[in-house]
This record gives sequence, C-alpha cells and structure tokens, in this order.
Amino acid sequence: MAGQGMRLDRLVCEAAGLTRKQARAAIAAGRVCAGGAVCKMPDARPDPAAVTLDGAPLLWRPFVYIMLNKPAGVVSASRDTRAQTVTDLLGGAFARRQLFPAGRLDKDSTGLVLLTDDGALAHDILSPGRHVPKVYEVTLDTPLTAQMRAGFAAGVTLADGTVLAPAEAEPAGPDPCRARVVLRQGVYHQIKRMFGVYGAGVVALHRVAIGPLALDPALAPGQWRELTEEELAVLQK
Ligand code: URA
Repeated sequence: MAGQGMRLDRLVCEAAGLTRKQARAAIAAGRVCAGGAVCKMPDARPDPAAVTLDGAPLLWRPFVYIMLNKPAGVVSASRDTRAQTVTDLLGGAFARRQLFPAGRLDKDSTGLVLLTDDGALAHDILSPGRHVPKVYEVTLDTPLTAQMRAGFAAGVTLADGTVLAPAEAEPAGPDPCRARVVLRQGVYHQIKRMFGVYGAGVVALHRVAIGPLALDPALAPGQWRELTEEELAVLQK
C-alpha cells in the first residue's frame, strides 16, 4: 500500500519497526505528531512525510533496501526452523516488513546480500534475461589454470549436462589459488560446480558486488546498513 492514505498505527508500526500494539501505545501516549500537532487517533490517515515519533521524522518509505555482509553459517532465507538467517541478523529492525534476500548465497559463502521487500527490483536483479553481473572472490584448493579461465569464458558444461552461459574467472592477486569470478546467471551452487568440472574445490567464496552495488568494506561480517539514495538510484537504472 502506498504511504499516503495508510492508517497512522500501521504507518508508525512499519516505519518505526514496532508491533501494532506498541504503535498504538505510542500514539495514545501523545508521542506521535502529524503536521506538527499531536495526533492520538490510530485510524487517522495523515501525510506520511509529516509524521514524527518522539520528535523525529518517521522516514516512512514504500520499500526497504539493505546491504548485509553475510557471515558463514547463516542461511540466505527469511525464515529457517534450525539455522540463523540473514533476516535474523537485523536484530528486530524492520520486523514488520516482509524482507527477503534478492539472490541467495550458500550457507558457507560470505559477502553481499541485498535484503528488500521490493519484489519488482529483486525480480529485475535475478531475472536471467537481465544478465546482472555478480562478482565473487573465490579461494580454491588448487591454482586457477588457463584451462579453467578459457572454459569459464566459453561456457562450462556441468556434470549433469547443463550448459552454462559464459562467465569470467581471473587471477585475484599474487596467490595463484585466488580468483575473481563474474557470473551473469544464478544456478544452484554454480561456482562450486563450475570449478568441480576441473577437479578444483572451493575453499571460500565471498560475493563483493551485485551489478553496480559493491559491498561496503566498512561492514564487518554480520553487519548491515540501508542503501544510500545514490546506491539505490544506480541499482534501479
Ligand atoms: N556459487 C556457489 O557455488 N555458491 C554461492 O554461494 C554462490 C555462487
């Protein structure tokens, strides 16, 4: 639902990450203003841009976009009955929004995960027809070879006969076992299976970019932040 016309209690709950009960309590306590005046009516439908909680603007937005540095051992899903998930790492922030990861990383992989509730943007990023490049730093248990690089460029045929689109595998720094891999499609365990064709095992896999969106190096494993307006604008292009 667009923010304009949304009930005040829902607006406060979604924008401030409160439960509906907590939002109603904040409204009843006079902590919420609309257009500069205290508003105690939970069913009021004010301009979202003019609503404050404890004097601070609520900054309601139709969608939320978060970049997260996924640590190993965390599942790229919204919910999991056993393992910790990427949404668990938000620690209750945006609890009222239905955030999901736009593209998965394996449980043992690390790096950039984009969490959003914008289904259209996620679809655009993941759509095979869009060929959005995803960039990975990969550590192998054997040196990267010219044969692997040429095979990736031509399009690897997996053990089950699946023919993959051309990809890139280039040396990454002085360590011969480290590679920078660029994929433009998303097949389950793709990089591990591609290197597996050459008898190479993946020791570590870290995603550093999704299209123009680069993982912020200031984010330690498990940390996250919302995208800046500039990051979102280039991602939406
Ligand atoms: N390819 C893989 O094998 N694993 C990932 O997590 C991402 C790409």
